[in-house]
Amino acid sequence: MSAILTLSRVSLSLNGQHILRDVSFDVAEGEVIGVIGPNGSGKTTLFNVLSGFLKPTSGTVRFRDQDITNLAPARRAQCGIGRVFQNFGIFREMTLEENVLVALEALPREQRRALGNLNDLVRGTLNMVGLLDRAREKAGSLSGGQMRLLEIARTLRSGKSLFLLDEPTAGVSPKMTSQVADLIRELKAEGKTVLIVEHDLPFISRICDRVIVLDVGEIVLRGTPKEVKGERKLQEIYFGADPTD
Ligand SMILES: Nc1ncnc2c1ncn2[C@@H]1O[C@H](COP(=O)(O)OP(=O)(O)O)[C@@H](O)[C@H]1O
Ligand SMILES: [Mg+2]
Repeated sequence: MSAILTLSRVSLSLNGQHILRDVSFDVAEGEVIGVIGPNGSGKTTLFNVLSGFLKPTSGTVRFRDQDITNLAPARRAQCGIGRVFQNFGIFREMTLEENVLVALEALPREQRRALGNLNDLVRGTLNMVGLLDRAREKAGSLSGGQMRLLEIARTLRSGKSLFLLDEPTAGVSPKMTSQVADLIRELKAEGKTVLIVEHDLPFISRICDRVIVLDVGEIVLRGTPKEVKGERKLQEIYFGADPTD
């Protein structure tokens, strides 16, 4: 299996504080990787390093055959790295279909062509998250959860090959959470690669091939969801000392 993403000893200090320390891992194309860890353990910072919003103090990030450590966010997006922001890019005054369309039209022409007919794609995207019947309504009329789902679906349909999802289901209903899980499974079936931060461990276990556990900026555990769940260390970092001791 060829690695689509390789982190080698990535460290990041901000204001003299170590936020990430010697983070190294490989992600194979088509894998779904869960990144978990307590609040403040560096998960969002790691995603910022991967999407280019923060530069590591040391270490390298490779995407396919390219060293992208110093590449700006827009350039990484062009390389095929997609990040889902929390309702960041939804235009409330535009209709749902227009919202999907602007995202697709922002793609380089070659990528856009590869996606086929844009109208079909827009309708398919909305259908995927159960919002097709509201295609002509303004996005501002959606609930917070629906807006999140639209944002996720739109990014996931953008022709990228690696997706970074930071707590995509935070604050959304259980029904929508399972829709997000379905979307991710569908992406995996298409050979896409996904890194996802989530607090919901059962959710992570259902969709992820492997899990990376961060604590105070370091990887302290890694393995399949099953392997990681059985580790006492996981209890320790989430709940302090092992209560069975
Ligand atoms: N811009 C920043 N400047 C200084 N410290 C930061 C900054 N962003 C995050 N941190 C610190 O980095 C650590 C990791 O934060 P974060 O990556 O948001 O954790 P997580 O997403 O796992 O909850 C925290 O201690 C946080 O206070
Ligand atoms: Mg975070």
